[in-house]
Amino acid sequence: MSLVTTKNMFEKSMKEHFAIGAFNVNNMEIIQGIVDAAAVQNSPVILQASSSAIKYARIGYLRKMVEAALEEHDIPLALHLDHGPDFETCKMCIDNGFTSVMIDGSKYDFEKNIDITKKVVDYAHKHGVVVEAELGKLAGIEDDVNVSANDAMYTDPDEAKEFVERTGCDSLAIAIGTSHGAYKFKGEAKLRFDILEKVKEKLPNTPIVLHGASTVIPELVEMCNKYGGNIPGAKGVPDEMLNEASKRGVSKINVDTDLRLAMTAAIRKVFTEIPDAFDPRKYLTPARELIKETVEHKIKDVFGSSGKA
Ligand code: G3H
Ligand code: 13P
Ligand code: ZN
Repeated sequence: MSLVTTKNMFEKSMKEHFAIGAFNVNNMEIIQGIVDAAAVQNSPVILQASSSAIKYARIGYLRKMVEAALEEHDIPLALHLDHGPDFETCKMCIDNGFTSVMIDGSKYDFEKNIDITKKVVDYAHKHGVVVEAELGKLAGIEDDVNVSANDAMYTDPDEAKEFVERTGCDSLAIAIGTSHGAYKFKGEAKLRFDILEKVKEKLPNTPIVLHGASTVIPELVEMCNKYGGNIPGAKGVPDEMLNEASKRGVSKINVDTDLRLAMTAAIRKVFTEIPDAFDPRKYLTPARELIKETVEHKIKDVFGSSGKA
């Protein structure tokens, strides 16, 4: 199968009330762990790279590794730009074979966000590529933009409808209380499902995206800390809430932090238990395996996309 856009997988997700996992990739082991998991679960999957991931891995390597994954596995797979900061970055990805791009204009005011999103939509649609946009601000750190938790701005459902109509974007990321990174909540985790419901009422046919949606899996944090890490007080979105979001209209759930934790935990364990190990395969093999287990769990037990390929 060749790379696909997210169009058909999102249509199915909205009809059958499940979500597709969108996992951030930076290197070969992460890509393999994710696609191996999706293939075992017979699930569609989105591989996404941020602009800093593209700088790190280099765009040609990313594309070729994803092509290699497609030679091995017969599942619907989309390659997506995560948090595209500007038109030029989106264009570069479209010109280099990405099937989906995000233009993140959430740091701008409403009108400027519309303008920049529309410009990307016009170019992307001419090239058969779909566009995710974002309205509302997530708390925490978004690439180089730091928004304090107090300034977090939830998405306004009426604005969301106007935004989608005026930009023609294909999917919309909304702010309902999630945030990026490993420290999402100081007290109890809380998501504004009431806002999600209102957005879905106004935009029943628009796939909705949840950023900052890692669980910050406690076992992985414990494992990192047990083997010399120092990640105290990390907290994410509980699986039950993500499962509810999947059933209540979220079509795409973004996960990066949990994969970072899985990779780090597995590598730390090897370095601690086998201090004389210095063959990268010795620690990257368990890292890839733990990423695979983590992704399988999400697909099967949380997002509900197992068997939906
Ligand atoms: O939402 C941001 C993603 O976790 C990507 O992070 O820019 O460090 O690659 P990054
Ligand atoms: P996490 O930091 O919760 O994994 O969120 C990742 C994300 O939203 C990527 O766009
Ligand atoms: Zn994000």
